[in-house]
Amino acid sequence: MRDALARLIIGDSPEIERLRQLILKVAPSRLPVLVEGPTGAGKELVADALHRLSGRSGAYVAFNVCAIPDTMFEDALFGHAKGAFTGATADSAGYLAEANGGTVFLDEIGGLPIGMQSKLLRAIETQQFRPVGGRLDRRSEFRVVAASNESLTSMVREHRFRSDLLHRIGGVVLRVPPLSERAGDVTMLATYFAERSAHQLARHVSFTPSALEALRIYEWPGNVRELRSVVEALLVFSDGPQICARDIEVALSERRIHGGGAADFAHRARLLDLLEHFDGDTALVASALGVGRATVYRRMQRLGVAPPKRASARTDSRSASDIPAISASLSSHVRENSLRIGATSSLTYGEVTQGKPSLGN
Ligand SMILES: Nc1ncnc2c1ncn2[C@@H]1O[C@H](COP(=O)(O)OP(=O)(O)OP(=O)(O)O)[C@@H](O)[C@H]1O
Ligand SMILES: [Mg+2]
Repeated sequence: MRDALARLIIGDSPEIERLRQLILKVAPSRLPVLVEGPTGAGKELVADALHRLSGRSGAYVAFNVCAIPDTMFEDALFGHAKGAFTGATADSAGYLAEANGGTVFLDEIGGLPIGMQSKLLRAIETQQFRPVGGRLDRRSEFRVVAASNESLTSMVREHRFRSDLLHRIGGVVLRVPPLSERAGDVTMLATYFAERSAHQLARHVSFTPSALEALRIYEWPGNVRELRSVVEALLVFSDGPQICARDIEVALSERRIHGGGAADFAHRARLLDLLEHFDGDTALVASALGVGRATVYRRMQRLGVAPPKRASARTDSRSASDIPAISASLSSHVRENSLRIGATSSLTYGEVTQGKPSLGN
């Protein structure tokens, strides 16, 4: 199970390892789980893993709450009885009944209208609900996994989310950290996405060490989703067998990502490429940049670029004129990651917040 999970949720940072351990613990229990984290971080993947590892034989029914018009919620969740409204020509089950013996995944649960929140709470607590136009309650043994990229605790404070529902669904909170908090995963994820695309394109492509470093130092406001699409595009547009830092700089600038910090990102990528090209010879890097060697050191220090280890015996000698002009520079980029969820004392990553329910069965 551990191996299967490691193949599903890629990453070797301590944060992801801890998340996988928690998934293994809570998956077999019937406890509701709330998955929090910024957009593109992998919440849906976690929900999927929770069901796969639950051992539950029923269906996994996933739906995005925000995609359902307010007037359709009851029908979508609880189903309806034949004749309930014009066009209701037969009984319909609804998501909760479909998830009998399985899992219902309520994505973006913060979008649930307040009126529906109390009805959902009752359904979760009693495992019973009344279909639209029905005269009898229906029963379904479903497990709830919910996800939100907005802090539900803040929503409770702002009276946009019912505290009783949060207490019910948030017994176990799994927090998926933004990629910027686990830069250690970037290499593994980038390699994984690259190998997958390369396989589809019947090619062999690898990253240079400086390219991987350039990927690691980027902020990834769109998290893993953004990394995946950048890598997939790089594979399509690159011709050679290697992707270097400059390719990444160009790819990110072409995505028109705006905001502060991007200039530094471009400078770092350029420095890393030059250092790699000249085997760490800062004199050659300085001459390629048309600046003094001290300036190169200062820039390296300011941008947190470590001098690469120099290969001891090189036979090729390169000069500054070998380097093609690195023209593209990122204008700017915004940290769109304003949705990042800060850990609070009551809802923190991986903590069982209500009592200490026994995990597993
Ligand atoms: N650790 C991971 N390993 C492999 N793929 C991942 C990982 N994390 C995320 N992904 C991939 O990144 C993409 C975005 O992940 P996902 O849809 O789970 O994000 P999300 O947190 O639900 O985002 P949103 O809040 O925007 O719905 C998906 O293609 C997913 O498969
Ligand atoms: Mg999602």
